[in-house]
Amino acid sequence: MAEPQKNAENGIHIRNLYKIFGHGAAGYVDMVKKGMTKAELNEKHGHVLGLKDINIDMPGGDIFVIMGLSGSGKSTLIRHINRLIDPTAGEVLVGDADVVKMNPRELRDFRRHKTAMVFQKFALLPHRNVLENTVYGLEVQGVPRARQVESAMRWIERVGLKGFEQKYPNQLSGGMQQRVGLARALTNDAPILLMDEAFSALDPLIRMDMQSVLLDLQKEIKKTIVFITHDLDEALRLGDRVAILRDGEVIQQGTAQDIVLNPADGYIANFVKEVNRGRVIRLDAVMAPINAGAQPASVRAHADTTLDEAATMLTKAGQTELSVVNGNGEQIGRLDLQRIISAMVTPAAGN
Ligand SMILES: Nc1ncnc2c1ncn2[C@@H]1O[C@H](COP(=O)(O)OP(=O)(O)OP(=O)(O)O)[C@@H](O)[C@H]1O
Ligand SMILES: [Mg+2]
Repeated sequence: MAEPQKNAENGIHIRNLYKIFGHGAAGYVDMVKKGMTKAELNEKHGHVLGLKDINIDMPGGDIFVIMGLSGSGKSTLIRHINRLIDPTAGEVLVGDADVVKMNPRELRDFRRHKTAMVFQKFALLPHRNVLENTVYGLEVQGVPRARQVESAMRWIERVGLKGFEQKYPNQLSGGMQQRVGLARALTNDAPILLMDEAFSALDPLIRMDMQSVLLDLQKEIKKTIVFITHDLDEALRLGDRVAILRDGEVIQQGTAQDIVLNPADGYIANFVKEVNRGRVIRLDAVMAPINAGAQPASVRAHADTTLDEAATMLTKAGQTELSVVNGNGEQIGRLDLQRIISAMVTPAAGN
């Protein structure tokens, strides 16, 4: 099994990044810095503001989700990470290396060894079977055949496709094709995984399955995963941290819980209205203080437990109150079922 790769070397840091599409784009950065909007830039100069002053830190080994509606700049942003797009201004640092300053050879090595991509439309080679699609990246790198196959077989099995090695893409469902896409990316053994709407073409239930596969895999692979989606539920489920883009700007970034509990503006508040809060909010955000002198409850739950999980624990135990404990098992708060349920349905702010 690959060594966990949670480290600073694979963290991604985006600094003051601007992208303007159009002739002589660099000449327009100052205007945008001075406040010209995307609409004005387009009307007055016919240029498209793709990204404006993006500053994001993606810790190595975490899943970082970029969320936004169509045209908000998600693909433009992720394509800067492996420099499929050159910025108009700004820095893209991976560890200490600035991707923007790499020469062609450095860039080729970086793309090949540091990053792997999973695409929305799967992008499998139709004339190659599952195994041959999965080894493709290693084959290009000139890795010996035995090692290609050994590595590919491990990931094919890990994504649940054992027995399908000889099938061709047109013999597989969309969900299975995307499992091949994932196995192929993992076989490359790159520490950074770039996923642009990778699950968006899948039916809802298959999509949830793939999210589970990814979360499960991530516990062992600990890659830096940049995951793009326009689906807030998917963003909140997958992301250790989430950035929300609108018109090329980051309007909020934080944990799923930060965003649901403290939406930065009405636009985001409107989005999070429909979110399943029970799956996002954790006990320490809504717990009550310990009652002096009261007996701790028999049901104990870690502060990181979600409201949904806590409600299930209580129901299974036939209890209505639980003790919230920290990593050392010390009680730090309490919650009863009533409070859990109200936090699921109403904004917790002001409770
Ligand atoms: N090559 C290009 N030339 C001109 N404008 C572009 C180019 N690529 C993207 N844009 C514009 O930049 C903005 C951001 O586009 P981008 O494709 O990054 O959005 P997105 O969030 O990925 O959208 P979607 O959800 O539809 O994939 C849009 O206004 C788009 O029209
Ligand atoms: Mg896109």
